[in-house]
Amino acid sequence: METQSIWFESQNNFKFSSFEGKEEVDVAIIGGGITGVTAAYLLSQTGLRVKLLEAGRIGESNTGRSTGNLYSVVDKFFEELKSKYDEATILTILKSREEAINFIEKTIQTLNIDCDFKRVPWVRFSGTKEMDDPIQKEFVIAQELGLKVEWLEEGHEMLAPLQGRVGMKLDNQAQFNPYLYVAGVADILSHQGCGIHEGSRVNEIEKNEDSFTLTTDKGTLVTRHLIEATHTPIGISALQTVLGPYREYGIATQTTKRLSQDGIYWGHYQKGKVTSVRHYKDRLLVIGEPHKVGQGSSIERMGKLKNYAREYFGAEDISHEWGGQHYRPADLLPFIGQRLGSRSYVATGFATDGLTYGTVAALIIKDDILGIQNPYAEIYRSSRITPLKSAYKFIKENLNVVQQYAGDYLRHDSVKKLRADEGIVVNENGRRYAINKDQEGTLHVCSGICPHMGCIVHWNEGEHSWDCPCHGSRFDRLGNVIEGPALKSLGPVYESQELDIKRRQSEAQQ
Ligand SMILES: Cc1cc2nc3c(=O)[nH]c(=O)nc-3n(C[C@H](O)[C@H](O)[C@H](O)COP(=O)(O)OP(=O)(O)OC[C@H]3O[C@@H](n4cnc5c(N)ncnc54)[C@H](O)[C@@H]3O)c2cc1C
Ligand code: FES
Repeated sequence: METQSIWFESQNNFKFSSFEGKEEVDVAIIGGGITGVTAAYLLSQTGLRVKLLEAGRIGESNTGRSTGNLYSVVDKFFEELKSKYDEATILTILKSREEAINFIEKTIQTLNIDCDFKRVPWVRFSGTKEMDDPIQKEFVIAQELGLKVEWLEEGHEMLAPLQGRVGMKLDNQAQFNPYLYVAGVADILSHQGCGIHEGSRVNEIEKNEDSFTLTTDKGTLVTRHLIEATHTPIGISALQTVLGPYREYGIATQTTKRLSQDGIYWGHYQKGKVTSVRHYKDRLLVIGEPHKVGQGSSIERMGKLKNYAREYFGAEDISHEWGGQHYRPADLLPFIGQRLGSRSYVATGFATDGLTYGTVAALIIKDDILGIQNPYAEIYRSSRITPLKSAYKFIKENLNVVQQYAGDYLRHDSVKKLRADEGIVVNENGRRYAINKDQEGTLHVCSGICPHMGCIVHWNEGEHSWDCPCHGSRFDRLGNVIEGPALKSLGPVYESQELDIKRRQSEAQQ
């Protein structure tokens, strides 16, 4: 099974060259998702020389795998936010997000980008009796915060197709096609002389006295300012210890039933879990079923989403299914801004709210580079230390990482049992080999050790990738980096052992 996001249907309309040669700029941006492209748009307008380097295709990574919802609230319940932050901080968060949505709308109008943007309501509802109380509580807190929320009684037409019981609604949120937005902005920028390059993975960053040197396969870029708009910082960063990497899934399908009106619908059918539903043209999108990277079955999770679409909406053929990644920050807020003592900037920890947070980040970083005081910079400051707010989550995420180290080193299995599109890590003479079989029966072998910080990778059977449970690096079946902090691919296998593996390959194929 190949997975593809619904947003890539129009992918081939946009093409950007790869970066070659040697150049010098004022600002280099690594990453062509919503964060990087928005930053490129904002900064190129100021007259600075800007260049954006994207490893894959513009907008193709997590931005193009999102649900395309824009909302000022966040995925976490207000109750959880209130356990860590006072009312003023929560209102500041909401305001920063609302302004970012307005900015996106204005940009779409200014640049005339056709990306199906429209204002819609956001609805959070309970799908079971046990979730009625938490939703009721959320409604009360939202009212106390001064939000113009509306209560949806049992039997309300907006809840009926979702078998929702009660809910709350907030108007004037938005939806769009995130890929068309990002690729559309990038396309206009590249025609205005801003360097936008895809197929240009940055393999190395060297910090000089007053600049950075970035190296790709074909070029070298020297820059005064460096923005890592890479979703999670690349290379080794202390921030990775306070970020939990998760995968989450989406499906798109035609259905016999429709929602009563377009909107962002978040259903709580059980505690701690949300199923997100929306329409895009004639299709229904169902998003959810997260698990920590490398620790869950993508096939099983996508299966649950398909069952939901069939049971609640009479879904027919599933046209698209895909996975995306997100990084949950330990203290619930993203990390945005300048790294201490350097002119490099990070933007990470967006959880599943990053279309808006990525835009907030670009606005903050632009101001930071221009020396303008941004009213939201302080709450998201990347160099903040919040030991108490992060403590429990930090310990939990890192205990989980330690368990991954211990558990994996005890694992052993046989290559012979591998079926097509299965993968396994085997321990041979003290070395770990990541082995997967493709549809043609060919076995692909690379190192099973993640080059970032040495965890063991896990096979993702739905997306055919090697996923690292520690900080979320992912590699394709040949070991090339797909995403995450790792800068290098999974190492090659030593020749002598390659012979050994080849022997076992032929045994397995017999
Ligand atoms: C299933 C799912 C649904 C979601 N739905 C929503 C939603 O409805 N609303 C919302 O607000 N948020 C949503 N999110 C979150 C949102 O998708 C992300 O937070 C957001 O897209 C992050 O944007 P970004 O630009 O920071 O990262 P990305 O879009 O991941 O872009 C980072 C880019 O950096 C590039 N890169 C990485 N390393 C290098 C390198 N070494 N050299 C060059 N390039 C590199 C990558 O290739 C990538 O293109 C969802 C997330 C998931 C997983
Ligand atoms: S991503 Fe950090 S060890 Fe793999």
